[in-house]
Amino acid sequence: MRSIILTSILSLIAVMSTAQTEELEFIKEKNYYQYDADFLPASFHKARRDSIRAALPDSSAMVLFANPERNRSNDVYYEYHQDPNFYYLTGLREPNAMLILYKEEQEINGKKVDELLLMQARNPSSEIWNGRRLGVDKAAEELLFDQVLANTSFQDLEVHFNNLKSIYYEAPYSLEEQKDTDGSTLSGLYKQFKAKDSTNTKSSELLAGMLLSKFRQIKTKEEIALLRKAIAITCEAQNELMRTIQPNMAEYETEAIIEYVFKKNGAEYPGFPSIQGSGENSCILHYTSNRRPLKNGGLLVSDVGAEYRGYTADVTRTIPPNGKFSKEEKQIYELVLKAQTAGIEASVVGASFWAPGQVATEIIGEGLKKLGIIKHAKEVKKYFMHGTSHYLGLDVHDAGMYMPLEAGNVITVEPGIYIAEDSDCDPKWWNIGVRIEDDILILEKGPENLSASSPRTVKEIEALMLKSK
Ligand code: GLY
Ligand code: MN
Ligand code: MN
Repeated sequence: MRSIILTSILSLIAVMSTAQTEELEFIKEKNYYQYDADFLPASFHKARRDSIRAALPDSSAMVLFANPERNRSNDVYYEYHQDPNFYYLTGLREPNAMLILYKEEQEINGKKVDELLLMQARNPSSEIWNGRRLGVDKAAEELLFDQVLANTSFQDLEVHFNNLKSIYYEAPYSLEEQKDTDGSTLSGLYKQFKAKDSTNTKSSELLAGMLLSKFRQIKTKEEIALLRKAIAITCEAQNELMRTIQPNMAEYETEAIIEYVFKKNGAEYPGFPSIQGSGENSCILHYTSNRRPLKNGGLLVSDVGAEYRGYTADVTRTIPPNGKFSKEEKQIYELVLKAQTAGIEASVVGASFWAPGQVATEIIGEGLKKLGIIKHAKEVKKYFMHGTSHYLGLDVHDAGMYMPLEAGNVITVEPGIYIAEDSDCDPKWWNIGVRIEDDILILEKGPENLSASSPRTVKEIEALMLKSK
């Protein structure tokens, strides 16, 4: 089977190489941004570069690399996803690229510029197989760069690193997957960068991440618009799950309902692997295999997020597949809801980043004690073993400094209780896992729940599930 496929692939390559010149003419006029007009505009990324440049100390530069392409198995690769820092500053969604942002103008290739993008050139035969590339010429115009060069030109390019006092950079991930050291690959670019730079230190690496985090943790209005869209799609997916779930389904079917709604609404993909944990799996925090039949009982923790134009939602709803919470499930659910509501109320400008978690932990500790599940409130971490909040944005666990909350932060508030089988409490509580997670925009006037369009109370959830049966 394998050798037949290989033979036909090879003959196709031969046919293409004779005809490719004329056939590929049309590609030159197009680029891959043509289908989705609502990606962030180039002016957004340019403005972010200008802000970072303004924050850099004198005589310095920031150097960032694109994400590597990641191999899944043999000749199959995972779908490419850009590094969020690189995307934030360039808008480019292609691999094998490098950005140099100078504090002061430098003369590069005969031109005075304060930024340089090195990227993969057009390649007609590769484009036939893998899709269009933006290309160096188009990138200058589409991404608003004064200087864009092919990555292969980096080796011989006179770039000015050693006359600078400091360079802030982040090393690319997973270089071991890329053996080539040619400048057309990420590892080649990185190797050449290291050879040209004799100033860098370990601390400069940390500083690049911190500087970018400080910017990324405050969302602009364009970013908030995309987050709203990602979150609206995710809430609709959770609501569709409540409307259509049947107790005889399996976890992979509920995952299919969720991800159908994502794709149907134009989201590129889930921002992280969808968690559909039912029964005993509701107590596994990041369960993603999603193979268990629901078996008409227990709860389903559905923790999912659509990624829309690079920005991801992260919303959890916990529902009974048969439409009705049992007495014990309801008691645990309402305790988590009470803790979450207090956590959201504590998400105000100036509060410690940890304030929502502290208040939620106190409420859950007292509540579990009252239900007789623990003896002392301080044992709470036995059943609530994670934090409540992280930033949300280009990454699900987004970049940020975990500083006191500021207007423009978007965070999650997501307490939970997970009572695994054989826990040291009455068996009537075993295998009950509940998490409720919402996405909260911090504003001067108070927190705004961006995921409020998906029901959270027992009454609302049961009503939506009943109505649709
Ligand atoms: N979905 C992962 C998390 O809630 O952090
Ligand atoms: Mn989540
Ligand atoms: Mn989360």
